[in-house]
Amino acid sequence: MRMYDLIMKKRDGGTFTKDEIDFIISSYTKDYIPDYQMSALLMAIYFNGMTNEETANLTMAMAHSGDVLDLSEIKGIKVDKHSTGGVADTTTLVLAPLVAACGAPVAKMSGRGLGHTGGTIDKLESIPGMRVELSEREFIDNVNKHGIAVVGQSSNLTPADKKLYALRDVTATVDSIPLIASSIMSKKIASGADGIVLDVKVGRGAFMKDIESAKKLANLMVEIGNSVGRKTVAHVTNMDEPLGLAIGNSLEVVEAIDVLKGNGSKDLLDVCMVLGADMLTIAGVAKDTDEAKEMLKEALTSGKALDKFKEFISAQGGDARIVDDISLLPQAKFVESWCAEEDLYIKDLYALDLGLIAMKLGAGRSTKEDSIDLSVGIMLGGKIGDIVRKGDPIATIYANDRDKLEWALNEIKKFIIITDEYVERPQLIYM
Ligand code: URA
Ligand code: CA
Repeated sequence: MRMYDLIMKKRDGGTFTKDEIDFIISSYTKDYIPDYQMSALLMAIYFNGMTNEETANLTMAMAHSGDVLDLSEIKGIKVDKHSTGGVADTTTLVLAPLVAACGAPVAKMSGRGLGHTGGTIDKLESIPGMRVELSEREFIDNVNKHGIAVVGQSSNLTPADKKLYALRDVTATVDSIPLIASSIMSKKIASGADGIVLDVKVGRGAFMKDIESAKKLANLMVEIGNSVGRKTVAHVTNMDEPLGLAIGNSLEVVEAIDVLKGNGSKDLLDVCMVLGADMLTIAGVAKDTDEAKEMLKEALTSGKALDKFKEFISAQGGDARIVDDISLLPQAKFVESWCAEEDLYIKDLYALDLGLIAMKLGAGRSTKEDSIDLSVGIMLGGKIGDIVRKGDPIATIYANDRDKLEWALNEIKKFIIITDEYVERPQLIYM
């Protein structure tokens, strides 16, 4: 097989066989195919697409390009949840202990943040002592003993995707639905999940900008997952505004604790209930999503989910006292609010721009190598459609640098739109 012929085949609208896809992925992983040829192929795929069968074959070829986790020693059906990335998406911090408290094993690999999107692993690292790198042995033992473990991705997981993603990033070929679907699903499959619950984000703060494309991506990933024997379901949720009220690492840990205590932001809780119900159902812990939702509610009101969060933190070396004393989390030196001068409504919140402001405060990375400040970020005083009362904060900035604080206090006013007229709450869950 020659890469030249394969590029021409896709350029002319052809369909690859499984052998051809296996050849491309294994050769590229071993550096036998130069980036310029792979770039040309990616662009041909971008324009001519792939059939669902090609996409499934590409997914499996990438999944097997490196380590594939064997979680068969963990009792029960392991269901993973994945979000396609958004701003202030705090769901994993809530869902992992919540679902584990209901009896479904959670063996999760999560990522770090990049750009305007945060990462669960960074958020967990704001808990003093928390270890996010466990050996495979510890990972499996923790799940068997505590029902939960969340770790960073092992370094040799889907190397083909790592290389391809970096190349797509610089060749304007990221936003191709078959390439996104195979990239995401390959990682989930390599990390050993029996079942997969997907949260495809759509809107200004997400990859997918329109609902139709997001549904297409969601349906394609469901088809791939199910076709390779992983029970998969997907939802499409709103990422025009940030999820929840907190944007920033330790701020989001506090937000998760609030939700686990039965308070917290309703949109965050609603997304967690929908995703959690599917996780419990696929795991076979609940017979349907109605029963699952009752179980989730009970775990919240009884305090079992919060106890599981403490157990999870302790099991990975973290200081579980943070749950009752949030002052043990990293604290920003400067905290200042933009307050309402009269009763008003939040008319709009621009997720992408607010995520970028939080990043520039230090909460996120502009390149993979950047270090981050776990204590900084933005707390919103309300979501679109909420009332903020006179004197209450519309938003609060947490910073460790006076200049950045002043800058952010000004900047957020461009991206948090207020009005004195009634504003309807936007739809949160589209599918
Ligand atoms: N997230 C991924 O992991 N891969 C993509 O291609 C896009 C989003
Ligand atoms: Ca949040």
